[in-house]
Amino acid sequence: MPKKLIAANWKENPKSEKEAIALFKTVSAVSSSRKVDVAICPPFIYLEKIASIRRKISLGAQDVFWEEKGAYTSEVGPKMLRSLGVEYVIIGHSERRKWLKETDAMINKKIKLALGDGLKVILCVGESLSVRKKGSGAARKFIERQLAKDLVGIPAAKLNPRNLVIAYEPIWAIGTGREDRPADAALMADVIKSFVAKKHHSRSRLLYGGSVNGKNIGDYVQYKNIDGALIGGASLRGQEFKKIINIVSKI
Ligand code: PGA
Repeated sequence: MPKKLIAANWKENPKSEKEAIALFKTVSAVSSSRKVDVAICPPFIYLEKIASIRRKISLGAQDVFWEEKGAYTSEVGPKMLRSLGVEYVIIGHSERRKWLKETDAMINKKIKLALGDGLKVILCVGESLSVRKKGSGAARKFIERQLAKDLVGIPAAKLNPRNLVIAYEPIWAIGTGREDRPADAALMADVIKSFVAKKHHSRSRLLYGGSVNGKNIGDYVQYKNIDGALIGGASLRGQEFKKIINIVSKI
């Protein structure tokens, strides 16, 4: 089985560099395991410091802009991230879609530039509760529409399972403690992988995200087509995150 990937999305946490370093040190004590890839995505402001103390752990950013440089106040381009040793970038997280009104067209531009500059993209997709309540067919249609818009115009030659990671994160499961049924997540993983194969003639890695923790991680990653997890809340609890890594490295 190919190596699983566990990515930590720290979001807007923690509040100081000192706490960020302490959290990173706790996590990196076990995360040097070779059996699982680990990526930590801290806020931009901590990237440089963490880059200087990390060893085997990969570094990810939580966002990127669609222009390399210029008069775009506060934005950060892919080349800037690469210059710090950043390998992954999360694009299209549902919190950015909601709070920053990020659209699929913006996400598509970001993915194109990030891939072009050699970043590995973790593209987040996921349906809302109102869509899910209409049934799994509606959820599937929603996800396929999202993928079609987010990946439009990206040729097969630009995509491969190393640089395209799709995180399926049902919005109603994020930070709520409300877990998706692992079998349903695995079905959606199939839908997403088939879509990428059919429309983009490529393969992608697939992460599940949404209230993943030390208790339920095994239930998700036991599925062959779930290649790991994108973890928010539990990644801020060092010991719990270590537990997750340990469980996944034994699968
Ligand atoms: P959560 O967040 O693990 O806290 O649900 C996941 C995410 O938003 O990526």
